[in-house]
Amino acid sequence: MFLPIDSAAAKSDLPRNCTFSESDWRILAGFWHPVAFCHEIAEKPVPAKLLDVDLVIWRTGAGISVARDLCPHRGTRISAGRVDGDQLICPMHGLHFDPAGVCSKVPSNPDQSARISPRLRLQTLQVCERYGIVWTCLSDNPVWPVPDWPGLKDQSLKRVFVPPNTWAAAASRHVENFNDVAHFPWVHKETFGGSEEDRFPSYDVTETDYGLMFQLGYEEGGNRFPDDVPGDSRHVVYTYQLTWPFSTIIVIQPNDSWYVQYFADTVCPVSAYETRIFQVATDTTGAPDEEFLIRESLMINDEDKALVEAQRPEDLPLNIRDEVHIPADAMSVAYRRGLVNRFRLGGALVS
Ligand code: FES
Ligand SMILES: [Fe+2]
Repeated sequence: MFLPIDSAAAKSDLPRNCTFSESDWRILAGFWHPVAFCHEIAEKPVPAKLLDVDLVIWRTGAGISVARDLCPHRGTRISAGRVDGDQLICPMHGLHFDPAGVCSKVPSNPDQSARISPRLRLQTLQVCERYGIVWTCLSDNPVWPVPDWPGLKDQSLKRVFVPPNTWAAAASRHVENFNDVAHFPWVHKETFGGSEEDRFPSYDVTETDYGLMFQLGYEEGGNRFPDDVPGDSRHVVYTYQLTWPFSTIIVIQPNDSWYVQYFADTVCPVSAYETRIFQVATDTTGAPDEEFLIRESLMINDEDKALVEAQRPEDLPLNIRDEVHIPADAMSVAYRRGLVNRFRLGGALVS
């Protein structure tokens, strides 16, 4: 009912009802995470949630700003307010905030020239706009860079944005699934999966300066590439590049073709068991078929979604001995090991 008078002692920067362990939350708070597509941020403030922290994202002439969704006056959710020019206006008493979060106007003040308390300031976060995605970091000192994605950084290639979707699953569960090729014949039968009889060659996972990388050949069922190469199935080479902790790009190269597709997937850990997915793609046509790519991607995601949401335990087991691994799991094992050994997620070392 009442905050103790000594409220500083009672205050924690951890969000209320945090669904992460405190140590995992603190580690994940050090990374850049995607929170929206840039094109979703127009004339209205947009609410978002990252690591159980409510955020507001808004656009002014100065670009995109992100702050905790909390008016410093009476704790209202400022995302319910509006943007007017370069000011974000709180819906409760109309306090105005500039793109840096500084209060510039208190409409009810009798003397409008009176000094405004510097404590009336939104808690803004760092913002990075890249690949058409808004990235933010809850820490002032990000520990890892935003992904450096081939293809998608080429401004001459048109990007396609898959409408975002939210899964009731851990971000790490989604990432493992996205980096798992052995499920293709079983889960993606209706889209591009190949034969259930296919064997997967053993493959090496390489540690890179951004994360992990592996390459694998695969015989896709069907022919989804616009390169006029005939065939009812296509042999492709997938190159996976994972940037810690939740961003992956797959470079898809069909054999005997000039065609290359770049398909990136990055996810926002909304809470420990809720994940918002942002996917961006392009290809060497320079002008990918947007309608086809979006439809195909939504179908593929749909094939995965129910299965991943139903995985138990909901938390990704980071102790390698907690689950049994098959040869095709080399990436999954490297991912789990890296999360622990490089970043201490999950709390302890595994061998
Ligand atoms: S609560 Fe935002 S202006 Fe009063
Ligand atoms: Fe899948």
